[in-house]
Amino acid sequence: MAIQWFPGHMTKTKKLIKENLKKMDMVIEIVDARAPLASRNPLLDQLTAGKPRLVLLNKSDLADPGVTEQWLRFFENGNEIHALAVNSKSNKSLKAVPSECRKLCKGKKWINRRPVKAMIVGIPNVGKSTVINTLAGRIKAKAANQPGVTKDMQRVPISRELQIFDTPGLLWHKFDDQIVGMKLASLGSIRDSILHLDDIAFSCVTYLSGEYLDRMVKRYKLNLEDPEEVPAPHVIIEEIGKNRGFLQAGGSIDYERAAILLLKELRDGILGRITLEKPDDPLRYWPVIAPLETKIPEG
Ligand code: G4P
Repeated sequence: MAIQWFPGHMTKTKKLIKENLKKMDMVIEIVDARAPLASRNPLLDQLTAGKPRLVLLNKSDLADPGVTEQWLRFFENGNEIHALAVNSKSNKSLKAVPSECRKLCKGKKWINRRPVKAMIVGIPNVGKSTVINTLAGRIKAKAANQPGVTKDMQRVPISRELQIFDTPGLLWHKFDDQIVGMKLASLGSIRDSILHLDDIAFSCVTYLSGEYLDRMVKRYKLNLEDPEEVPAPHVIIEEIGKNRGFLQAGGSIDYERAAILLLKELRDGILGRITLEKPDDPLRYWPVIAPLETKIPEG
């Protein structure tokens, strides 16, 4: 059964983006560097066609640096799209954003007269508010009317070079793709109650054992009988529970507690810098597990 994501909201948000985009010079799209495809809304390509775009691979401090390089090359598209890997909690990391925006609008006749107007878009939890707040510095993000721009859009002055307009509404990934759901759930970007925790952990460990087995072996002191043979995901999770002494009454291993620990440590970066998809093969290793029920996330 597919997960349904805000069908009503999406229609309204799409309409607002389309209307307001006419007044914008460009788009700043924020994605999670740990899953850059899963954390973007594919409708954006269609909605923002023809506008210059800066893609920010945010949370790159938590992502695998080598894979982030591959994603930067994937997104960079000559004059139309630039991509930057950023950690939006750091001022320094976002320093290049205004000048990149100006570069993208180079040659426009207004470029020396006024700031670039950029609409900022991203699905929830990719770090949009953090990017805006860090860029704005001490200037608080506040709603301001702008001729021709609906009051649902928040204008945030950044500098003499750049003004940011926050997208109205929530821009969810429109998907019925369970793999995308599993990746976002693994990163904690959709609430654990929407998908089953055991399924998220199983799916995630399947990927991690293909790409980052050594990290799990080291962190959880896994005892691989045959180093050539990768244990099944549920065996790894059980081993984690066993090694941490997560036992239930009766002595059986508390599988759920082990799954929670693994996901928490992945999300917090304790397992190291990890990326859950690669540009050459984004579906790699992710088993499809259908959730038992359909729920609409709260927004
Ligand atoms: P949103 O507006 O797109 O929904 O996302 P928001 O900025 O609220 O960020 C979601 C979470 O991601 C926050 O953590 C935020 O601190 C964290 N975050 C944002 N950008 C980065 C980044 O570049 N690197 C890292 N490591 N984390 C980032 P939280 O746990 O929800 O809140 P808190 O830790 O700020 O209290």
